[in-house]
Amino acid sequence: MNAAAPATPDAGAGAVPPLAEAELQAYAAIALSEFFDGHPVATFAIDTGHVITHWNRACEHLLGWSKLAMIGTSNHWQAFYPKQRPVLADLIVAGDDRLLEQHYPGKYQKSALIPGAYEAEDFFPNIGASGHWLHFTAAPLRDQQGRVVGAIETLRDVTERRVAENALRRAHDNLENVVEKRTAQLADMNERLQDDIRQRHLAEAELRRSNLELTELNSQLSRAQQQLVQADKLASIGQLAAGVAHEINNPIGYIFSNFTTLQTYLDQLFEMLDAYQQAEADIGVPATGAALRARREQIDLAFLREDIPSLMAESREGIVRVRHIVQDLKDFSRVDANQDWVWSNLHRGIDSTLNIVGNEVKYKADVVKEYGDIPDIECLPLQINQVVMNLVVNAAHAIGEQRGRITVRTGSDGDNCVWIEVADNGSGISPDTLSRIFDPFFTTKAVGKGTGLGLSLAYGIVQKHGGHIDVETELGKGTCFRVRLPIHQPEAAGEGSP
Ligand SMILES: Nc1ncnc2c1ncn2[C@@H]1O[C@H](COP(=O)(O)OP(=O)(O)O)[C@@H](O)[C@H]1O
Ligand SMILES: [Mg+2]
Repeated sequence: MNAAAPATPDAGAGAVPPLAEAELQAYAAIALSEFFDGHPVATFAIDTGHVITHWNRACEHLLGWSKLAMIGTSNHWQAFYPKQRPVLADLIVAGDDRLLEQHYPGKYQKSALIPGAYEAEDFFPNIGASGHWLHFTAAPLRDQQGRVVGAIETLRDVTERRVAENALRRAHDNLENVVEKRTAQLADMNERLQDDIRQRHLAEAELRRSNLELTELNSQLSRAQQQLVQADKLASIGQLAAGVAHEINNPIGYIFSNFTTLQTYLDQLFEMLDAYQQAEADIGVPATGAALRARREQIDLAFLREDIPSLMAESREGIVRVRHIVQDLKDFSRVDANQDWVWSNLHRGIDSTLNIVGNEVKYKADVVKEYGDIPDIECLPLQINQVVMNLVVNAAHAIGEQRGRITVRTGSDGDNCVWIEVADNGSGISPDTLSRIFDPFFTTKAVGKGTGLGLSLAYGIVQKHGGHIDVETELGKGTCFRVRLPIHQPEAAGEGSP
């Protein structure tokens, strides 16, 4: 307070005012000093000689240096810096802008409010226990003529703001860090997800593929099962047929041979009757002649002579048919009797078979041969001929009123297998019939026309060769039987019987 009066630094420089004026000024100075001292913003002032003229309580409080220690000295730097150097107020008094840049590089700026004033912000590690951030503004003090008589500097403690700002910046940086990390994690997760999806797609495809394989296996299994059932049926029917054929074969044999003899005897008897009839006129006893004539008319001998030969012919045909059935049964039950496995050319066999069945076929259909290039195969040739014959005869039977066409094709499947196809453009086979055509004795033909053994026989033969028969058919369009046969027979089948 006592320092308030000399605070007017230029007091000595100007003209001395009249006393009343001086008193007035002193009073004003005291009032200003009071105001200055009580002001809550830390403030100090220096004169042009860099001597401290004011150091208020807020300043004492903020910087920890008492006004007693400060006023009248030029030690204000001590409150801020460890070594002596100018503070902002000193630079204002010096009035050299270049010094500003030298002492507060990049930290100062012109005050927007007070002309000639500058402000800056800096950290002062020496102030307080752990340093303080200060925002400080220094402005020139001028006399009434506008000459600089000193400078005033105010200090605001912005440590809290700065700390908060720093914390905010750190938090922000942290946040950015976290976001970056999370983004990377997300990208990583996305990648893994894509990977997962790809793998799942692969697994799905694999599953679908194995499902297909399974379905195929399943249908193979059911085909094999059907064939087994068929084979089983054939085996039992075969035994039955063998027994029946054996039993019937002998009686039919002697009936047939007796029948030929009977025919001869009947011819002789008729000759004898003719002789008797011619001798009738020469019989001396008229009553005997009349009785013979009456008897002849009664039994209608003329009719008998006509009818007996046709009865004989019909019976003979019946016996031939029975013999034929018995032969079929025998063929069916022991199809391979006395045959050897040989290497044989299928085309030659097919040609001769077509010759044999020519009569049955030629009035109904044209036979077209489409032979492929096939190797000889190991087989029982007569039996294969039998198969071809049965298929061709069936094809001919399937053709209706209009002339049809039967195509016999051959070809090979890879190195192990040849095939024969017999295709017709006949009636086709209805679905409910189709499942039974290989059954023994199944026929859709009129009595006497079919025995129902043709296809089951063919089936047995093909099976014995280790082959397959497949059918494709469409009602009204026609049917195609395809027989596949292996070229080589396994060792075991090399010789003889089934
Ligand atoms: N090419 C074909 N077209 C139409 N139906 C056929 C054909 N081949 C066979 N079938 C049918 O299969 C049945 C059985 O034939 P199969 O065993 O040879 O006996 P069959 O010829 O004595 O009737 C025949 O009655 C017929 O209904
Ligand atoms: Mg037949």
